[in-house]
Amino acid sequence: MYINEKLKPLWHGGDYNPDQWLDYPEVLQKDIELMKKSGCNAMSVGIFAWAKLEPEEGVFQFEWLDSIIDNLYENGIYTILATPSGAMPAWMAEKYPEVKRMAEDGIRSRFGNRHNNCYSSPVYREKVRIINTKLAERYSCHPGILMWHISNEYNVEDCHCPLCKENFRKWLAEKYGTIDNLNAKWWSGFWSHTYNSFSQIDPPGPHGEFSSNPLKLEWHRFKNHMLQDFLNWEVSVVKAVNNNIPVTANFMRFWEIDYAKLAQSVDFASWDNYPFWHSSENEHEVASGTALYHSLYNSCKKGKPFMMMESSPSATNWQPVSRLRRPGMHLLASLQAVAHGSDTVQYFQWRKSRGQSEQFHGAVVGHDNTDDTRVFRDVAKVGEELKNIGEVAGSVTKNEVAILFDYDSFWALRIAQAYRNKDEDKGFLDTLMKNYGALWQLNMGCDFVFEDDDFSDYKVIVCPMLFMLKKGVKEKIESFVSNGGTLLVTFASGVIDEYALSFFDEECYPLRKILGVKAEETDSLYDGQHNYINMFGGSYKCTKYCELAYLEGANVIGEYKEDFYAGMPALTENVYGKGKAYYLAADLELEGYIKLFKELFTGVISSDKVIDTAENVSVTMRFREDNTYVFVMNFNNSEEKVYLPFDYEILCGEFEENTLTPYAVVVLKKK
Ligand code: GAL
Repeated sequence: MYINEKLKPLWHGGDYNPDQWLDYPEVLQKDIELMKKSGCNAMSVGIFAWAKLEPEEGVFQFEWLDSIIDNLYENGIYTILATPSGAMPAWMAEKYPEVKRMAEDGIRSRFGNRHNNCYSSPVYREKVRIINTKLAERYSCHPGILMWHISNEYNVEDCHCPLCKENFRKWLAEKYGTIDNLNAKWWSGFWSHTYNSFSQIDPPGPHGEFSSNPLKLEWHRFKNHMLQDFLNWEVSVVKAVNNNIPVTANFMRFWEIDYAKLAQSVDFASWDNYPFWHSSENEHEVASGTALYHSLYNSCKKGKPFMMMESSPSATNWQPVSRLRRPGMHLLASLQAVAHGSDTVQYFQWRKSRGQSEQFHGAVVGHDNTDDTRVFRDVAKVGEELKNIGEVAGSVTKNEVAILFDYDSFWALRIAQAYRNKDEDKGFLDTLMKNYGALWQLNMGCDFVFEDDDFSDYKVIVCPMLFMLKKGVKEKIESFVSNGGTLLVTFASGVIDEYALSFFDEECYPLRKILGVKAEETDSLYDGQHNYINMFGGSYKCTKYCELAYLEGANVIGEYKEDFYAGMPALTENVYGKGKAYYLAADLELEGYIKLFKELFTGVISSDKVIDTAENVSVTMRFREDNTYVFVMNFNNSEEKVYLPFDYEILCGEFEENTLTPYAVVVLKKK
């Protein structure tokens, strides 16, 4: 499936801010010339242009945008048109203070920055409705419009204004029905926190309630709900005018928003990718970490391509160190997105602004206003290669392994006072990254599955620290395994229900039947402390957590080597129905996870999809009808050889004698 049939090849372009250059017509003309030279065919326009579109309340100026969109189109370049709600104009902040957010102490923010409107404010919604409607009426039938870019990088910062508080109480009342039900689910007898009415409930904050787990969790869920409600509002406004233009909203490298849910409100998932390339000698963490995000957002809309909506064409200016990309890295990083299912390579930003906070951020065109730069040549190379591999557009990934991930579970784990409190997230992200990183290293293509997905699309499901087990999920896991699936569950899983209540009595240890073990206690380790799991003839270090589990039918594959639990099970296998369920009691280091997954999953997933490679060489595949596209990527600063067990045609890159130069990528088509 294509994002838009109007532009079938892969999209190449980025955030284009002509609104900053309206007084420089020669620059705008040069933009077109350089876009064509760099093979750009899709630009995101108008993201922060509200003050130029509506310079005073009710006074609209669209002529400049007419000529930009026309001019792009006449030159074969399409527009991804943004709604401008990501940054409000000053007149609005001045006249309608309620559009700005309020801190816990009741102080309203002053005008400034961006991404800071109150999602509850009816005034803001009305102003957004007006401008979005006008944009949709004027442009949605323009042949050059490809897509709506709704707002920009929505966030979920707190707003404690009276409207948000009221909405929070209403949302709770709707969810829980009665205050007694809420008290029961929140276990509010604890510390005499029983509420008499919903009106007594305030959002959490340092001057009020900051220790109630369910309150904190529900406030976070509510903020997500308000954000999604706002997004739905924006989408409904543009779709009411013309339902034929697909919409997206750009996601981030961010764990505060439930993007799996948010994706349900858009036609395509997109995200903004800013890896810390070259921040260490070994690129494993950055390369596999970036792949993880690509997979996560690719999984938000299964069966459809996703979009890399932003990336820097060179350095970023906000990272602790603005490191330049080594030769080859720009093409490699760009095609990594495509390798994982993106049909676009988009940048922030097309042209560097002359002033303000992003004037030193990487851009396709720099302050020298020329194409004679290393960065421009790198971008033009990407443009050329995207054309060479254009037939990949519309193909999809088909992975057999998935990580079961639940945002609520992660937030609840973070909120809980337990385990290693010294890690703000209890070590979850590190564990997740290691699980994904091992699969990435083994080239076992991996998706994410969320609670509403069909688990039966996969052969293997891995659950790292699935702390919260929601109603229905346990049943889905159970039928996945009994129907022949392979499951791996780690420590700290299945501890609380969706209300953050601990499972009790007979319901305690909800996964014990499937796993054939009872995971009774968790030993949290200080930094520097460790144990080992003896498994598969070796000894593998484990840190952070060691659970003490008792067998209830499972076989032992690995045991602890040390401490008072030496000899106890640390890795078990349970045959359950037609499938197998593995339980991992302790947090391994990456090397241990690689060994584990190699041993357990190699025979389970299709061998023709898994290629053996050197460290940090990644192979992924995309499929369409009879065609298989293979991306081979070398994230090492050294030459690597890769042997493929099939014949191929080279679509992009050099692959003489099976050799990849440092940071090289090749794209092949299986014969
Ligand atoms: C993104 C944002 C862009 C720009 C970019 C800089 O998060 O959407 O507008 O600020 O970061 O890296």
